[in-house]
Amino acid sequence: MQLGVNIDHIATLREVRKAIFPDPVKAAEIAEMAGADGITVHLREDRRHIQERDVALLMETIDTKLNLEMAVAKDVVEKALEYKPQCACLVPEKREELTTEGGLNVCGNVDEVTRVTKILQDNGTVVSLFIDPSEDQIKAAEETGAKFIELHTGEFANAKTEIEQMKELDKLIAAAELAHKLGIGVNAGHGLDYHNVSLMHKVPHLEELNIGHSIVARAVFVGLEKAVREMKELIRSND
Ligand code: PXP
Repeated sequence: MQLGVNIDHIATLREVRKAIFPDPVKAAEIAEMAGADGITVHLREDRRHIQERDVALLMETIDTKLNLEMAVAKDVVEKALEYKPQCACLVPEKREELTTEGGLNVCGNVDEVTRVTKILQDNGTVVSLFIDPSEDQIKAAEETGAKFIELHTGEFANAKTEIEQMKELDKLIAAAELAHKLGIGVNAGHGLDYHNVSLMHKVPHLEELNIGHSIVARAVFVGLEKAVREMKELIRSND
């Protein structure tokens, strides 16, 4: 199973100060050196974290592949056609949300999703649809011609009890089996962390997991001690 590292929240940390660091382009290089099989970024319509400059530079610099998460919106579709990322994941997007809430409603929007999927795939970008693990959504995804789905693992990740978690895991397993039977590749992501990720081995046919928040959050703690020591050293040596 491959790991796509979502680096949006490196850019969140930069944008919170409108600074030039930390640079997600540097983060991508480190993630690749640590074994990431791909880099994922979400170019949101409100540009709250990843900027167009990031996407352009990532396309020039990464050695693996770029997976561009994007809404089915004219502005970002035009950008995706220009940057030609290797992969794109179509997601729903609301300006007021903190993060992507729920999967794309492909059932209610087959024509539009099919249209965008086709122009992106004709332009050389492999498309996945970020959907809830539901039979209806998977059947609708098949109609669009998208090569992949990305199963939304948010409900699984947010489960409050083990029973609830197992129920959500069963939904993911059934969804992955159906998608595979229909010839659609299966990825998964959202809310996966250092505790729940091992259960993903129970989901068959998974090709890639996209993980962001938990990795960036852990990086703060595994790197904080070194960062403080370095600053302390600089201050002390100037005494
Ligand atoms: N996959 C999709 C489609 C997403 O929208 C996100 C969040 O940007 C992720 C994966 C990664 O989720 P998380 O940051 O919770 O690991």
